[in-house]
Amino acid sequence: MTIATSARAAVFERPGTALSIEELTVEAPRPAEVLVRLGASGVCHSDLHVLDGEWETPVPLVLGHEGAGVVEAIGAGVRDVAVGDRVILSWFYPCRRCRACASGRAWACTGTRAGESVLDDGTTRFRRADGTDVHSYLTVASFAERTVVPEAAAIRVPDELPFDVAALIGCGVATGVGAVVNNAQVAPGASVVVVGCGGVGLAVVMGAKLVGADPIVAVDVEPAKLELARELGATHAVRGDGDVRSQVAAITGGGADVAFEAIGLVPTIELLPDLLTPGGTGVIVGLPPTGVRASIDVLAFAEAAKTLVGSNYGGAVPSVDFPRLARLYLAGALPLDRLITHRVALDELEEAFAAMRRRERARSVVLYDTDGA
Ligand SMILES: NC(=O)c1ccc[n+]([C@@H]2O[C@H](COP(=O)([O-])OP(=O)(O)OC[C@H]3O[C@@H](n4cnc5c(N)ncnc54)[C@H](O)[C@@H]3O)[C@@H](O)[C@H]2O)c1
Ligand SMILES: [Zn+2]
Ligand SMILES: [Zn+2]
Repeated sequence: MTIATSARAAVFERPGTALSIEELTVEAPRPAEVLVRLGASGVCHSDLHVLDGEWETPVPLVLGHEGAGVVEAIGAGVRDVAVGDRVILSWFYPCRRCRACASGRAWACTGTRAGESVLDDGTTRFRRADGTDVHSYLTVASFAERTVVPEAAAIRVPDELPFDVAALIGCGVATGVGAVVNNAQVAPGASVVVVGCGGVGLAVVMGAKLVGADPIVAVDVEPAKLELARELGATHAVRGDGDVRSQVAAITGGGADVAFEAIGLVPTIELLPDLLTPGGTGVIVGLPPTGVRASIDVLAFAEAAKTLVGSNYGGAVPSVDFPRLARLYLAGALPLDRLITHRVALDELEEAFAAMRRRERARSVVLYDTDGA
């Protein structure tokens, strides 16, 4: 297909203003790109960081980075996916050319421009009626009915996988489960603490249950989140506004083997080392505003030989991890649909973000009309 199409999309202009729902022109995919008709997009806190001005991005920008849909057209030379394939979009994809990719460390790839919210040639496929270019958040832009992504960012999954579950695999689930299995490599029977049980933290809880961690201690300030965490595998629930340190110490017998922070707040990031047993590992999954620094008690940290690791996209290699997570869902080992508490329309996004600011809802998912897709 060589002609342009169009899509309703939620466009971000600047912090403090509402997303505008607009009809954009979507240009045809160029070589090594694919046009995807979205089936669903999750609402992740990373979009909220942008909306609230905590991270800088180019504007105007179609937000959304947790999406899944169906390939509607392919550019020249595309071999990995075909029209009609169901795909999960990846906000990190390997260039397959750089040294990191060539040496099997695709997650360290430096060869794409996804971080600039432009395609590899520095341009974007979204246009306003007045001809203005509109950026594509992390080259995913899943708050749109259609989007053009690099071939390597569209990962094929089975047709039986529902769009809403598929979307969540594209960020929150790959991040949360990946933090457990890839970054921390949690062993069966290891004690785990998860601080923050939103969409990402609950995926950490599920990952911990999947690998047989025990106990699994969920920490959150919202009782509803703790209740859901328990249903999804947490063995203990601790109120985040209480004395988390002593309660975690009592439950784990002196400190956890692995503790995850899945909020992005300085006080809870600084709490991580205190929740660990000597030799334990703290995993930073939550992301704070740009430039924020945190401190640790260095002597205590070094003497107890603790480890702190950063986790980006759960250390996932999307082409390997997305199909694997899909299979685990389809086999009943990861009840990912339980993360979805609200299914909404594109023009209900503002309310979904407002609820997230109020710490309500596990995951809201935008559903698109895919009739006739
Ligand atoms: N590292 C990565 O690759 C990656 C990927 C995706 C998201 N993230 C980040 O992970 C974080 C979580 O994302 P999310 O979509 O789950 O967000 P969310 O808003 O759905 O969840 C945050 C949770 O933290 C809880 N919380 C807030 N303050 C708390 C406190 N003081 N103590 C205990 N609990 C508290 C809230 O009740 C909520 O349940 C965000 O910072 C997001 O940007 C990181
Ligand atoms: Zn995300
Ligand atoms: Zn690369």
